[in-house]
Amino acid sequence: MIALVTGASSGIGEATARRIAREPDAQLILVARREDRLRALAAELGGEPLVIAADLTQPDAPAHVAAAVETWSGRLDLLVNNAGAAWRGTFGEAGWENVRRHMELNFDAQVRLTEALLPLVRRSAPSAIVNVASSAARVSRASSGAYSASKFALAGWTDALHLEEREHGVHVGMVLPGFVATEGFPQPQLVDKRLTRWIVSTPEKVAEAIMDAGPGRRAERYVPKPYWLGAAARIVLPRATRNVLRSGRLPLSPPTKDDAGR
Ligand SMILES: NC(=O)c1ccc[n+]([C@@H]2O[C@H](COP(=O)([O-])OP(=O)(O)OC[C@H]3O[C@@H](n4cnc5c(N)ncnc54)[C@H](OP(=O)(O)O)[C@@H]3O)[C@@H](O)[C@H]2O)c1
Repeated sequence: MIALVTGASSGIGEATARRIAREPDAQLILVARREDRLRALAAELGGEPLVIAADLTQPDAPAHVAAAVETWSGRLDLLVNNAGAAWRGTFGEAGWENVRRHMELNFDAQVRLTEALLPLVRRSAPSAIVNVASSAARVSRASSGAYSASKFALAGWTDALHLEEREHGVHVGMVLPGFVATEGFPQPQLVDKRLTRWIVSTPEKVAEAIMDAGPGRRAERYVPKPYWLGAAARIVLPRATRNVLRSGRLPLSPPTKDDAGR
């Protein structure tokens, strides 16, 4: 299995690369901006993964990645669109610019990379694409509207792609993680308190869900699984859900990547 993972330099992407590397026939392609991290991971995993250092928001990145994969393997069995980030801020404070940068990375970059790689993925069918969305793709919270907008867009597009690619033998799955402690999403308000620590999941659990949604051919996986209840409540009990979110009774924090970061 030739598998490409974006955002493999940390968090969920790194855990996914480690998980895929355990498959007997796995050959990995690791993509992110921080080449030193990718090279260190590649050396640790062995099997000589292909490392592609790229900023996926750059106009020429998709073509560059596609050309490198075409030359290296000429096929792609699994594409994991995972790279993403969140910058907190209300719309009144952070404005359209915050929406723009979320869309650029969490939606446009995933769509553009998929477009560039789709011919290769179709040629490799039966094959799979997994898009890493978020529980924020189903329920929006204050101070993370821009992030939610990008993930709602990703989920809407993924649902259609799932239906469209079926006839080409390409399974399209989606993973919707809740809170997962990673570098970009440290979740300190939740991790620091014994009362709320339990709702924070691990990158390894998300990596297993990505395997279910890719090679396992599941259409959709929440992590942890009971998070689908929140998505259902938003549709079936909209007023009650809004009241709970408004009250601040849920121990939920918005995405916590700070602007000083990458
Ligand atoms: N952790 C959570 O609570 C949570 C919850 C729901 C959904 N998610 C989603 O899960 C995915 C992974 O997040 P994570 O928690 O693992 O965060 P993370 O540890 O910060 O990882 C983000 C990855 O994306 C890469 N990346 C960021 N900007 C990039 C760019 N312009 N070009 C190429 N790669 C880029 C980063 O690598 P470089 O900096 O080296 O480029 C890094 O490898 C994201 O899509 C996120 O929205 C996370």
